[in-house]
Amino acid sequence: MGIQITPSILNADFAALGAEVARIPSADWVHVDVMDNHFVPNLTFGPTMVEALARSTDIPLDAHLMITDADRHAPTYAEAGCGSVTFHVEAAQAPVRLAREIRAAGARASMALKPATPVEPYEDLLPELDMLLLMTVEPGFGGQKFLDLVLPKIRRARALMDKHGVETWLQVDGGVSLETIERCAEAGADTFVAGSAVYSADDPDAMIEALRAAAAG
Ligand code: DX5
Ligand code: ZN
Repeated sequence: MGIQITPSILNADFAALGAEVARIPSADWVHVDVMDNHFVPNLTFGPTMVEALARSTDIPLDAHLMITDADRHAPTYAEAGCGSVTFHVEAAQAPVRLAREIRAAGARASMALKPATPVEPYEDLLPELDMLLLMTVEPGFGGQKFLDLVLPKIRRARALMDKHGVETWLQVDGGVSLETIERCAEAGADTFVAGSAVYSADDPDAMIEALRAAAAG
């Protein structure tokens, strides 16, 4: 799998989400940020809305669950029609079981790490994961500044994936823009979430192609 651009709808118009997704036909995935006001100090939407959005588009949904009770709720998002479901390791009680449940429900299983969470303790979990998400901002809001301090962790994660010979995708999320995407790609990321960069552009779909070209170097 090559480079994938995954726009986040967090900064889109929530009153017109179907139309907002129709503006980004070049997206490989649509990133949906589920927030519960407990794991992060912000609140978005739940499985009913995600299911409606999944029905409204042919682009697969990439659910990013910023919720406290991940073990209980994550499989619901696979059942709601998401192609990929990401839970936070800081919230999961049993990440191996949870990844297996997500896969059994028909979605790709993915695990996210906040900026201060090290990757090394989870090395042996990589074969259980279809994707690892390294947050490049503290989760909770769009439009934050990219944290360069995560770049060494991206490199270390890529090295661990190479060592284990796994096909796990390496996603970055937060502050990804034309200014920062090259640094992420050079460090080893292959899947890029971009929220404000895409939805603040005059032509969101052209921005996706510009980000793709910048990531390709
Ligand atoms: C932040 C979310 C991100 C957010 C990214 O907690 O997980 O997906 O939408 O937005 P930008 O690209 O503006 O940082
Ligand atoms: Zn996200």
